Amino acid sequence: MKNQNVRVLLVENNDHHYSLIQDMLLNIRGWRFDLDRVPTCSDALKEAKRKHHDVYLLDYRLGSEPDGLKLFKELRLNGSSAPIILLTDPDGRESKIHVMRKGVSDFLDKSRIMPHVLERSIRYAVEHAKILEALQESEARFRGVFHGAAIGIALIGAKRRVVESNTALRRMLGYGKKELHRLDFQKLLHPDDAKENKKLYQELISGKREHYQVVNRYLRKNRQWMWANLTVSLPLKSKEKSQFAIFMVEDITERMQAKEALRESGKKLRILSTKLLETQEKERKLVAQELHDSIGASLAAIKYALENKLDKMGGAPEPEGISLEQLISMAQETIDECRRISTDLRPSILDDLGLLATIRWICRKFERIYSAIRVECRFHIKEKDVPESLKVIIYRVLQEALNNVAKHSGLDYVYLYLEKKNGKIELSVEDNGRGFDMDEVFIHKDYAGGMGLAGMKERTELFDGQFILCSGKNAGTRIRATWPIR
Ligand SMILES: Nc1ncnc2c1ncn2[C@@H]1O[C@H](COP(=O)(O)OP(=O)(O)OP(=O)(O)O)[C@@H](O)[C@H]1O
Ligand SMILES: [Mg+2]
Repeated sequence: MKNQNVRVLLVENNDHHYSLIQDMLLNIRGWRFDLDRVPTCSDALKEAKRKHHDVYLLDYRLGSEPDGLKLFKELRLNGSSAPIILLTDPDGRESKIHVMRKGVSDFLDKSRIMPHVLERSIRYAVEHAKILEALQESEARFRGVFHGAAIGIALIGAKRRVVESNTALRRMLGYGKKELHRLDFQKLLHPDDAKENKKLYQELISGKREHYQVVNRYLRKNRQWMWANLTVSLPLKSKEKSQFAIFMVEDITERMQAKEALRESGKKLRILSTKLLETQEKERKLVAQELHDSIGASLAAIKYALENKLDKMGGAPEPEGISLEQLISMAQETIDECRRISTDLRPSILDDLGLLATIRWICRKFERIYSAIRVECRFHIKEKDVPESLKVIIYRVLQEALNNVAKHSGLDYVYLYLEKKNGKIELSVEDNGRGFDMDEVFIHKDYAGGMGLAGMKERTELFDGQFILCSGKNAGTRIRATWPIR
């Protein structure tokens, strides 16, 4: 404060008092005062507009009326924020408290005024004004942050009342300030979220948690639900006995709706894929039956007729060209081929004898075709434990797993099992072959390989199952598919 210039405006109509004040100000050491003096209220208002002053000294009674107070009010109305000290006669003292309450910095008795009293009063007024200004600036900054925040903020006090709320929160919920502050904030919460929130809030209050974060639904004024990411904490300094909690609310409705839409479309896609696979299986069954019943039956009839003819010829020489025996053999090959295609499309054994019999049959067939490979097959499950609709899925997964074993593994042993364990059905096919680098196959962007593994996974998951593949170079390959028993 020392050597600081202080601009003072003295509103005083009495020349003697003016000189007195002027002398006193001159005698205050360590200060430099720029003193301006005006005699009337209207002059004071003009002067205040023209020039900034650090402090006003106003004569409380300029005429016969207490003009000082009126002038004080007008100065404030005109936007002047400088501190004001009223100078009064001895009989004006009783109004001191009343005037001070209105925001006047000090009230000095002109008859007793001393330089050190004036100095202390001015210093206090100027310092106080500075502190006030800093406080106001800081509050304005805080308010700017509070109301400018894109996230909703509320201070929730006793009985869950909103003590303070920012613009973002009110906009999100669609309430005006007064309406929102009258509400019990808890009542806006979805009933299903209330219990969890209550528990977390208690833990916060009791000091078990520093803060908590939870996804909630709040009811907007337009009766629509808003999904919100809520973070709740207590103010820093008053943690021990906090009067209110800080609620920060982020509107995530759009994100949740997009997620829900994605889940819905995923569900629809799964239904569609299941339908597609079911249709495919039906078609396969139909084509297999048609092949067997029409072409297969016709071929058998042709073969029978040819054999009959050959019998009747009794060894007589045949005309030149292809012999009847060759034709019979060709018919037999075509019959076999037709049967193979039909079985591949849909083995009738699956419908006639069930899954376990089909798996045993596939294993025998596999060993017959790939005579160097030994297949070990174990079951810890009963036929009736496998849901009908799952049977064909297990069959297809196994079919592809064995195809891969034959095509890629270069091994001599494969172990497979089907079991029921811990409420799940599990199929496992494991070989001791050359295996493969999974990163190369799945992560390499140029990989344009087969569809077998992807198909196995898709089929497994369509029935709510889980498909796990384990492989590594020279470490064999194992596929595991598990399905919950419904
Ligand atoms: N049992 C296995 N042993 C070694 N490598 C395997 C085995 N199973 C799969 N693979 C590797 O994984 C790749 C992908 O297998 P996937 O079944 O998806 O395709 P594919 O068998 O090549 O072709 P598709 O099944 O479409 O006829 C194979 O090309 C092979 O490199
Ligand atoms: Mg394959």
